[in-house]
Amino acid sequence: MQFQNNHEIIAIVDFGSQVTKLIARRVRELGVYSEIFTPKQIKKIKDYKRIKGIILSGGPSTVTTQKFQSIPRKIFREKIPVLGICYGLQLIAKIYGGTIKSSKKRREFGRAFIYKKKKSILTKKFFSKKNKSVWMSHEDAVIKLPKKFKAIAYTKNSKLTIIENSKEHIYGVQFHPEVTHTENGKQIFKNFLFSICKIKKNWNVTFQKNRIIRKIKSTVKNDKVICALSGGVDSSVVALLINQAIRKNLICIMVNTGLMRKNEFKYTYKIFKKKYKLNVKLIDASKIFFKKLKNISDPEKKRKIIGNLFIKIFEKEQKKIKNIKFLAQGTLYPDIIESKSATGSKSSKIKSHHNVGGLPKKMNLKLIEPLKEFFKDEVRLLGNSLGLLKSICYKHPFPGPGLGIRILGKITPEKIKILQEADNIFINELNKNNLYDKIWQAYAALLPIKTVGVMGDSRTYEYTCLLRAVTSEDGMTADYYNLPKAFLDQISNKIINNVKGINRVVYDISSKPPSTIELE
Ligand code: XMP
Repeated sequence: MQFQNNHEIIAIVDFGSQVTKLIARRVRELGVYSEIFTPKQIKKIKDYKRIKGIILSGGPSTVTTQKFQSIPRKIFREKIPVLGICYGLQLIAKIYGGTIKSSKKRREFGRAFIYKKKKSILTKKFFSKKNKSVWMSHEDAVIKLPKKFKAIAYTKNSKLTIIENSKEHIYGVQFHPEVTHTENGKQIFKNFLFSICKIKKNWNVTFQKNRIIRKIKSTVKNDKVICALSGGVDSSVVALLINQAIRKNLICIMVNTGLMRKNEFKYTYKIFKKKYKLNVKLIDASKIFFKKLKNISDPEKKRKIIGNLFIKIFEKEQKKIKNIKFLAQGTLYPDIIESKSATGSKSSKIKSHHNVGGLPKKMNLKLIEPLKEFFKDEVRLLGNSLGLLKSICYKHPFPGPGLGIRILGKITPEKIKILQEADNIFINELNKNNLYDKIWQAYAALLPIKTVGVMGDSRTYEYTCLLRAVTSEDGMTADYYNLPKAFLDQISNKIINNVKGINRVVYDISSKPPSTIELE
């Protein structure tokens, strides 16, 4: 079992919670390096020397059955501090001889109020008032405290909401301090990391830059690397990092699918060619993309056509360049976590995502993935320290299939033009009104319906434009952004008055789940 680097580490054991990634992010935000392990992986670790603390995540399993997922007992023998969250708390209680029961009476979902019972290092500065609003998601509850443990806090439904065995540095919380709905949840992590594990702040993404550049240099030596550059933050940071390491031996390929935002392709090309002086090869494939997408309206078919065509074109170009040994990809840490889920099962497919960076491994090239240790917000910090323009570094995510999945139904060059104009107005206005940075992702889409309108004295029969703006932490869940009414009035007018082909604008007020961020 290999660690991703040589840092002192907080190990997070993933028992399958939807929000395990957030635990890792909270820890890293506090300047401490963390990695996520499956229960199987944690069992395979032979030397715990670098592990300064362990956090057990929540999860859908129960310890009330005979067989349940656990961690090796030697973790406790080695006196490594442990914090259990939700299932993690129940597991600790089970291992130490407490009683856990599944009960409709005790279950708590969503907001709950927690009350302080005893002082604890874990809750130092957490309870600024008598109670705190926390986020719960459990049906099982600890009903009898294990020996040597104390109860620190309780809710109306559950007497043992925080428990501790401070002598052995073992703590458990029934609520989720990692989610933003828990008031002051970060303080729990602060106390655990710095007062209990006594780990130092030693993780700073910017300091990692030189280590990564050195590693690329020593891996690639004098060979050539190719990279698909889309102009999104991930592929841009990959390109700049590799460029700093090997300069001219990096060849970036930009494929114009014709499905990008207005002027985005030209802009990205200019920036990387002229400003950053990268070796960029430009391929205009828009005609073939339009041709293959003609008359296709099924979302999955569209995604497959775009994904496969992109790979074909990229492969063809790659073959024209001699002596390439490496393919660079913008794989992020969440992608790595997702491919080794706690249960081993892949979550059911909702949409077949095609990432422009997601090229096949059978290209006989070795992979370089310099971002595989990082979360998106860390990649942005890296981008900043590499001098990446703010407009690219903080750009909203853009899906690989681009406008192809934002024009619902059949795609035509005319519809692309209409959508590009509307989207451009929307994004510009968000920027002008200082709203862009408050939103995780915003875009315009073209609905496959025409409606009747009246402009001047004439009747119109034109397309409907849908605007979507959401807040999110990682795209897994999202809330629609509450755009001010004055802004909505203004944007609707501006789009209808300036974009020929649109006579109606609607705002999407659905969250994810049950909807998704993209429409197709
Ligand atoms: P959904 O629509 O699944 O989107 O809620 C979640 C996030 O993923 C992005 N997305 C994609 N990104 N290739 C990508 O690189 C894709 O095929 C793709 N589909 C969706 C979406 O924009 C959102 O940020």
